[in-house]
Amino acid sequence: MRNVKENPIILGIESSCDETAAAVIRGRVLLSDEIISSAPVQAKYGGVVPEIASRAHTDAVDEVVTRALHSAGIRKEELDAVAVTYGAGLLGALLVGLSFAKGFAYGLNIPLIGVNHIRGHLAAAYLEDETLEPPFMTLLASGGHTAIIHTKSYTDFEVLGGTLDDAAGEAFDKIARVLSLPYPGGPHVEALAREGRPVVPMPKMLKGLGGYDFSYSGLKTHVINYVHNSEQRGEAWSRADVAASFQSAALDILVQKVVEGARERGVSTVTAGGGVVANGYLRERLQAACNAAGLRLVLPAKKHCTDNGAMIAAEGLMQYRAGNFAPLTLNAAASIPLR
Ligand code: KG4
Ligand code: ZN
Repeated sequence: MRNVKENPIILGIESSCDETAAAVIRGRVLLSDEIISSAPVQAKYGGVVPEIASRAHTDAVDEVVTRALHSAGIRKEELDAVAVTYGAGLLGALLVGLSFAKGFAYGLNIPLIGVNHIRGHLAAAYLEDETLEPPFMTLLASGGHTAIIHTKSYTDFEVLGGTLDDAAGEAFDKIARVLSLPYPGGPHVEALAREGRPVVPMPKMLKGLGGYDFSYSGLKTHVINYVHNSEQRGEAWSRADVAASFQSAALDILVQKVVEGARERGVSTVTAGGGVVANGYLRERLQAACNAAGLRLVLPAKKHCTDNGAMIAAEGLMQYRAGNFAPLTLNAAASIPLR
């Protein structure tokens, strides 16, 4: 029987998309947090090219892990476990981090922990506030997923609802293209929106009365049509106003739903995770809505909203404490259903 520690030292590795990231934690304390991103290279192609991402991970993974151990002041022999994203994400990209982690765990004779990327985004909040414990209601909004999730215990969660088509981040990336902004679109749309006003009418996104499901496809089509029609008619239109109008339509619904979820389930804490939660407008609106509803809000730092190794280490800790270790035969999974 392996000696299970209360506050193990865990290395987290993330390579599901275009960030190669590694971090070291001791219990819920973050010791280091390193990232090498291929986003600037991907930007030239207007999005993530899977093969380029895989090659970039291959070049970066050893370096990023070495940096993470070095800046944590930890020798690899001191590690108690290696946590790694096994899905969801780009298969070739995932395999780079997973294979590296397997080699590391095997070589050091320590447990391997397979982390679901989405649960990693949820776990980022644990690092922000060491007193945070379930239950809480989370707004998850990334490039691949958007959902309202009730975390009932450290290992049990329920999806109340979410997008039926595009994820919020995906919608930001598509609208960025319409507005001739570079990849990744989210931060550029946010910056442009700051110069505009939300005066362009946008369609409702709710699917089903009172539920938690919504759709981004109508909103996206509406923006595309608005831009094309205005241009065809030779009418003046404001890119900044379109950005601001899209941003509030895309994000206000998320704020409303997570607060509704918390109230309905009698949960007093709200958290958030995923790249879109780096959005300043969303963070302000969440804070205001939680204040008004008397809810406590735990928001991960912006750098822990977009993909990172710290969140993988944090979720690894939850799995470690639950005794959920993975065999060395663990395979990568391109998609893991949310519900
Ligand atoms: O969580 P993440 O880093 O990767 C996935 O797991 O998908 O999320 C990336 C997504 C991208 O679609 C990006 O455009 C969006 O998050 N994003 C933002 C912002 N920063 C990143 N969306 C809106 N506003 C931002 N500031
Ligand atoms: Zn992510």
